[in-house]
Amino acid sequence: MAVCYSVSAIAIVSTFVTIFSLCLFLNSKTKLFNKDVSLLGTNECDIYQGSWVFDDSYPLYNSSTCPFIEESWDCQKNGRPDKDYLKYRWQPYGCNLSRFNGTEFLLKYRGKRIMFVGDSLGQNQWHSLACMIHASQPQVKYIMDKIGRQYTFSLPDYNIWLLFLGNPLIVDIITEKGSRVLKIDSIRSENVWKEMDVLVFNTWHWWNRTGINKQTWNSVQDGNTTYKDMNRLELYKKALNTWAKWADSNLNSTKTRVFFQGVSPDHEKCEGKTRPLQSPGSLFPGEMELENVVKTMSKLNVRLINITSLSQYRADGHQSIYSYKMDCLHWCLPGVPDAWNQLLYHHLIS
Ligand SMILES: *[C@@H]1O[C@H](CO)[C@@H](O)[C@H](O)[C@H]1NC(C)=O
Ligand SMILES: *[C@@H]1O[C@H](CO)[C@@H](O)[C@H](O)[C@H]1NC(C)=O
Ligand SMILES: *[C@@H]1O[C@H](CO)[C@@H](O)[C@H](O)[C@H]1NC(C)=O
Ligand SMILES: *[C@@H]1O[C@H](CO)[C@@H](O)[C@H](O)[C@H]1NC(C)=O
Ligand SMILES: *[C@@H]1O[C@H](CO)[C@@H](O)[C@H](O)[C@H]1NC(C)=O
Ligand SMILES: *[C@@H]1O[C@H](CO)[C@@H](O)[C@H](O)[C@H]1NC(C)=O
Ligand SMILES: *[C@@H]1O[C@H](CO)[C@@H](O)[C@H](O)[C@H]1NC(C)=O
Repeated sequence: MAVCYSVSAIAIVSTFVTIFSLCLFLNSKTKLFNKDVSLLGTNECDIYQGSWVFDDSYPLYNSSTCPFIEESWDCQKNGRPDKDYLKYRWQPYGCNLSRFNGTEFLLKYRGKRIMFVGDSLGQNQWHSLACMIHASQPQVKYIMDKIGRQYTFSLPDYNIWLLFLGNPLIVDIITEKGSRVLKIDSIRSENVWKEMDVLVFNTWHWWNRTGINKQTWNSVQDGNTTYKDMNRLELYKKALNTWAKWADSNLNSTKTRVFFQGVSPDHEKCEGKTRPLQSPGSLFPGEMELENVVKTMSKLNVRLINITSLSQYRADGHQSIYSYKMDCLHWCLPGVPDAWNQLLYHHLIS
């Protein structure tokens, strides 16, 4: 298929590659010139190219009015003295994102099932979205529940279910004779995913864990071959490819809108940071592999929510010492995951 694109347009293109032969030309910053763009229905701009702007009308909610917020996310409650980090809004260069409107969201997604699948960063984002929705409709009855690794936030009046399923590696881990085997080529359990109307996947950080107490498997099985361990980036790539194959043959784009969340970056130093960094720094590991895998998918429309670079600016957004332990990986709420949800909302509403 004759498809050409500039790297920064992959997120846009990936969705349409299978449908149209598109040639997108981007100028230096943002404007999209493309005679076929009307096929897309909108003049799409690259919402991931932009900057953080201070906006006094933010945050979208106050953690003290989000009754179910987990204490570990609530940096204000945990004594964080500065507040500016709450007020940065992601502003694309080429267009304006419409402000998150929970009412609009509920009306549009009435009767739908939305599931985040991945690690605690996915839970961070799921929690943020639940708070954002609740803040727009505080009078609407909700149910908050947790069974095993599945968290449920539902609004019976709208018959909406917002779910998070803790599944940090996405592929299977199976305990055989007391030993945990990572089945790098297998996703077998997840019929429930197929029932969803929206799926948002994320994975990365658990691939990078080594050591007795951190690593979640004892051995790796790929086909009939068993390995003690393997290069982590290689494993991650294999897992993404397993996911891509599974998704291509098991999900139906007409029924399910599928998103893959770009890698959420951690920072070496975050303590004491009170404003965004001047530069995002170098390419974050894992991100390129994810982009490449999403590109190879032939059947399913998957949108990559390209949050890596924009989050790399936000060393100030981490929990730092205002959580159970020093944490430069997860994010305060309100905070950076709200912006991810704003971007997700942009895709879901348009
Ligand atoms: C993600 O966004 C960054 C910053 O705009 C850009 O450099 C990168 O190419 C984008 N990746 C994709 C897949 O669009
Ligand atoms: C959140 O609300 C509480 C109670 O009204 C208030 O004291 C606090 O300053 C608010 N937090 C922020 C960050 O605005
Ligand atoms: C975005 O909003 C600003 C301020 O409201 C406005 O001046 C600008 O023209 C808008 N830009 C676009 C591309 O709509
Ligand atoms: C939010 O969306 C609802 C439903 O479309 C609309 O009635 C309301 O005016 C919107 N609120 C804002 C602040 O735009
Ligand atoms: C984990 O990621 C960091 C960079 O974020 C890297 O320095 C380190 O080598 C990685 N560890 C493994 C096991 O890949
Ligand atoms: C694995 O072994 C089984 C049984 O020996 C064989 O049938 C199968 O083809 C092998 N699979 C691969 C991928 O080599
Ligand atoms: C995909 O889902 C749509 C809408 O639910 C349905 O009409 C269609 O038959 C499905 N396609 C396949 C291949 O299952």
